[in-house]
Amino acid sequence: MSDESAAQRAFPMRGVPQPTRAEVAALPGVSLSRHPVIAHKMTALRDQRTAPPEFYRLVRELGTLLAYEATADLELIPDAIETPLEPMTGTRLAGGVGIVPILRAGLGLAEGFRQVLPDAQVWHLGLRRDERTLEPIEYYNQLARAGNLQVCFSVDPMLATGGSAIDALNTLKRYSVRHLRYVGLIAAPYGLLKLRQAHPDVPIYLAALDTQLDERGFIRPGLGDAGDRQFGTL
Ligand code: PRP
Repeated sequence: MSDESAAQRAFPMRGVPQPTRAEVAALPGVSLSRHPVIAHKMTALRDQRTAPPEFYRLVRELGTLLAYEATADLELIPDAIETPLEPMTGTRLAGGVGIVPILRAGLGLAEGFRQVLPDAQVWHLGLRRDERTLEPIEYYNQLARAGNLQVCFSVDPMLATGGSAIDALNTLKRYSVRHLRYVGLIAAPYGLLKLRQAHPDVPIYLAALDTQLDERGFIRPGLGDAGDRQFGTL
């Protein structure tokens, strides 16, 4: 292998132009959380002193908080019930909710979503990013029976080059899953722009937008590897 191709494999983002944070912060359909509790928990998550049990707990809590933000406009239908005192017409969600955790790192976020939406269907999708090419590789797919849903959330803490998120949404669309939304914790401007361009119809919900990808394709300042830090495989 030539020195040039070895460097290309070790530093796949070297020399790749990247947009700035300011250039992507106002893209249409992107919701960047302004909630102080989310900001507080994100700082604890990023802190390198945060050990896996605490890290996993924080990811779950952030999933719950983001679930509130990402479900704020769901449709309701009337629901006639009787309270202990009298009949009334309440409301309930119109149609089912799907959650697609992108393995592994999406598992904690999905658990947080399930705190809010315990009836949601969970469709696991396994994608692993090749650390040299940064290309996503699918290794598990449980989507075959995905049903008719009001909304389906693809959840993954990290949006780096955007390859995994784009691939996951491509797969979901191939399975005719509609009303898709993407939910993540942190994004690099590069990945956010790629995702917005590839799937302009999919609303994006994020807890934080970071500065850039480094030459290896890691989000900076970032939080390290969300999968390894959740599951103690550092
Ligand atoms: C990480 C992360 C995303 C992906 C983001 O997963 O959880 O799925 O990389 O990178 P991209 O935007 O450049 O595609 P990883 O491949 O490390 O797998 P893991 O969740 O099993 O740790």
